[in-house]
This record gives sequence, C-alpha cells and structure tokens, in this order.
Amino acid sequence: MEQTFLMVKPDGVQRGLVGEVVKRFEQKGFQLVGAKLMHISSQLAQQHYAEHRERPFFGELVEFITAGPVFAMVWQGENVIATARQMMGATNPADAAPGTIRGDYGVQVAMNIIHGSDSPESAEREIGLFFSEEEKVAYEKTIDQWIY
Ligand code: PPS
Repeated sequence: MEQTFLMVKPDGVQRGLVGEVVKRFEQKGFQLVGAKLMHISSQLAQQHYAEHRERPFFGELVEFITAGPVFAMVWQGENVIATARQMMGATNPADAAPGTIRGDYGVQVAMNIIHGSDSPESAEREIGLFFSEEEKVAYEKTIDQWIY
C-alpha cells in the first residue's frame, strides 16, 4: 500500500491544528502508520530540504522548521501521496482553495501549516529520514472494505 510522509509544521503545532489535520486524513479513510511530536535538528532540516539548498529562502525554511516542535506522520492508502497534496492545497496559502488545509488555515507561504511528500521517491526518502522501522505500526484495518 502506498505511503506518504506528512508533517504539521511548527506554526500548525503552536496553533493547535494537529488534531484538525489528523482528523481530516482519518475521515478521508487513510490509515495512520506512525506519528510523533519532535524537534527537528538543523542537520535533519538541511537533509529533509536538501533539494531546495540553492533557493533564496533556504535559510528561512530551515530556521522556521527548527523553531518549534513538529508533528511527523506516516499515512498510507490508495493514491495517498497525490490525494494528501490535494487536501493540503497550494504551497502558498493565498492560492490554496477553500476546503484545503492551507486554504482554510494559512495566510503566508513561509507558514503554511503542513508538509507532504510530492512523489513516491520523496515519500520513501522522507519516511526513512524521520521514522525507523519499529516506529511504523502495521495493523489490519478491516473497515477498509466500506471506504474504498
Ligand atoms: S513545493 O510544494 O515543494 O512544490 O513548493 P516549493 O515552492 O518548491 O517550496 C518548497 C518548500 O519551501 C517552502 N517555501 C518557502 N519558505 C519560506 N519562504 C518562502 N518564500 C517560501 N516559498 C516556498 C514551501 O512551503 C515548501 O515547503 P514544504 O515543507 O515542502 O511544503
């Protein structure tokens, strides 16, 4: 089953949006595989955002994501990578449609509440960066037959 890495960023944690984010993915029918509240080290932030190293806002991005705890998660389900990105909304909350997480709760691009993997390759890399095998919980979700 496809898996993705999602993370409530420091602004979302500080604003008490962890429950709202988890609720949306649970109610959509996806399965939570792993979750933890954690501080991201500068080293992990630089690894996670390595592909953006040359971008002008890289320093700001690393500073922001390490400024407070994040809520890191692994979710699984059919087409979860693309569907999660749709549920998150556009990167800049100003462009995000109402009904999406960023459209409903975000204002500025630097503080856009949630991160989600953008491809199967990113998902595998990011899950590996944040979660050990033991931290991912496998269980059978028998109600799936009524959701998909
Ligand atoms: S995306 O979703 O990867 O296509 O978006 P992208 O525009 O490439 O942005 C990559 C991440 O950088 C964040 N970002 C910014 N942070 C601070 N300041 C500015 N101006 C800015 N622009 C983009 C954006 O939220 C993306 O972070 P993640 O965690 O991947 O969503």
